[in-house]
Amino acid sequence: MKNISSINPTPTIGIFDSGLGGLTILKQLQKDFSNNKFLYCGDTAHLPYGTKSQDSIEKFSSNIVNFLISKGADIIVVACHSASSVAIDYLNENFSIPIIEVITPSINSAIHKTITNQICVIGTHTTINSKTYSKKIQSINSDIIVHEINCPLFVPIVEEGLENHDISYMAAKLYLESINSIGIDTLILGCTHYPILINTINRAIDKNIFIIDTGISVSQDLKNIIGVNSQSNTFIPKHEYYVSDMPYRFHELASKFLDQQVDDVRCVDFK
Ligand code: DGL
Repeated sequence: MKNISSINPTPTIGIFDSGLGGLTILKQLQKDFSNNKFLYCGDTAHLPYGTKSQDSIEKFSSNIVNFLISKGADIIVVACHSASSVAIDYLNENFSIPIIEVITPSINSAIHKTITNQICVIGTHTTINSKTYSKKIQSINSDIIVHEINCPLFVPIVEEGLENHDISYMAAKLYLESINSIGIDTLILGCTHYPILINTINRAIDKNIFIIDTGISVSQDLKNIIGVNSQSNTFIPKHEYYVSDMPYRFHELASKFLDQQVDDVRCVDFK
């Protein structure tokens, strides 16, 4: 993807997710691109994407990209792993502005880190069933063994605020126990919600494992495309937040994912 920093030094960055989980990625990007304005869309009316069909996710995602472009986005980050797995080709075929996803940057970091050549990816049904991670990793290095594990209970556990409860540890043990007996040394958190479970995941795995932080990997990828405008800015960008439905416990969830209060959220139909 070509570097667009020569055309616009501080492009407006549109970012979307199926809901509020993508705020974990926005948090890293706002830290690294403090001069850029961000437009965030959470498709809370259609959450979860993790159990939806490819056709539906392509349709929802393209409505959001159209919406973000209408609001002035110059580049789009697909923060949702499920949408990144099944809709990115469709989006890139149908839109001319740069659209980046969360899978390739995490894969590049994981391939760089693994010594045993065994990587584990955990994610939703949609992400794991698509086999996008294993196909992409093996197209880069066919010697790497990729273990993919579907962890469907993790999203509702986080949404219910149970990340520090025993139920979260039991689910992590159930899904991740097998990691202990094979040579996996690198784990990709292939879902927006999973960084919230990082302590529990670490507890459930009885060995040292390198965990890939998607936010940091995506931020690096974005730097390659838009550069970093490090000039101090007298204009403080006013970020915009949109959701397609005002969900149950919105403010509690949003501040958990972004680590700050989200004010001035607009509820809109992305169509
Ligand atoms: N944002 C989704 C993902 O990263 C998780 C929540 C959902 O299933 O929509 O896959």
